[in-house]
Amino acid sequence: MLVLGIETSCDETAVAVVQDGVTIRSNVIGSQIEQHRPYGGVVPEIAARAHLELLVPVLDRALAGAGVGYPDLDGVAVTVGPGLVGALLVGVAAAKSLALACDVPLIGVNHLEGHVCATQLASGSLPVPMAALIVSGGHTSLVLLRADGRLQTLGATIDDAAGEAFDKVARVLGLPYPGGPEIDRLAREGDPAAIAFPRALLHDGSWDFSLSGLKSAVVRELRRRQAAGVATWAPDVAASFQEALVEVQVAKTVDAARATGVDTVTVVGGVAANSRLRAAMAAACEAAGLRLLLPPAALCTDNGAMIAAAGHNRLVAGERTALDVAADPNLGLAPLPLPPLERSRT
Ligand code: KG4
Ligand code: ZN
Repeated sequence: MLVLGIETSCDETAVAVVQDGVTIRSNVIGSQIEQHRPYGGVVPEIAARAHLELLVPVLDRALAGAGVGYPDLDGVAVTVGPGLVGALLVGVAAAKSLALACDVPLIGVNHLEGHVCATQLASGSLPVPMAALIVSGGHTSLVLLRADGRLQTLGATIDDAAGEAFDKVARVLGLPYPGGPEIDRLAREGDPAAIAFPRALLHDGSWDFSLSGLKSAVVRELRRRQAAGVATWAPDVAASFQEALVEVQVAKTVDAARATGVDTVTVVGGVAANSRLRAAMAAACEAAGLRLLLPPAALCTDNGAMIAAAGHNRLVAGERTALDVAADPNLGLAPLPLPPLERSRT
């Protein structure tokens, strides 16, 4: 079964062809980074226009890369939310047209469910129950994938998302957008113990996160040092900030897994590409006797393959999305059609 996946919720125009929900036949990303870079972040109007310009060439490359044509497709999956509405609309309109023209089902996919399905692509299945840390530019939450397919939110950020914190701190340090990968790189030359930044909510007994104070603490510390004439080695700031963020994410994820009795953990979303988060989560899970499923970095950041995988699961479960479906910038998570792989084999 071949499913086309289209992702245009933010600043990546992405199209992929995935076979049987696990085999990536092609996964093409048309990046808009250069267009947003002068503004230091994603400009929604520029994103929508860039999606319009990039979508057809990216689609052509995805089909050619997979060695398939439109008649070979069994379904078209598309991100319908959450995300930037103008950006979502471009992908949704294209997917509707393709589904209609090819006479195949349309499957609307939740972007966060897509991120979780990166684990299915990487590991060949989506084992449940499992604890998932979803960390991206717009979302930070700890979710329990229950055995019945329900997604139970255990905790979430009460202010900034993790990627947002990375991007904001990067801006303060004068690094280009997107800041996450820049901080990741810079931090490798720094001392994570150089500055003791706050670990918000670390011991509050909840699985919630708070990150806006961490960003403010970085700004305050830089100002204090400047006023005192103290020289600052930027890699130390990057490494110390990253360590504070990672420590809380890792501690809460492991604690949530233990408390809910699951033995498997996954980390998905753009921030799951962070090398320190990956290393620290791996060490903590090993120490706690937990199995960690970590998709490769390229599947953690936004891509069309994860949307195709999520769409495949719903398609084989018999789901169809009406052609008049609306893009929903605030779409919530719905239960997963589990077990997707068992069903897909039938
Ligand atoms: O999932 P994603 O590609 O898009 C959203 O759904 O938001 O995540 C993008 C976010 C950005 O904030 C970006 O700075 C961050 O993920 N990111 C990283 C790294 N790679 C991407 N953050 C930290 N370290 C990285 N290596
Ligand atoms: Zn994303």
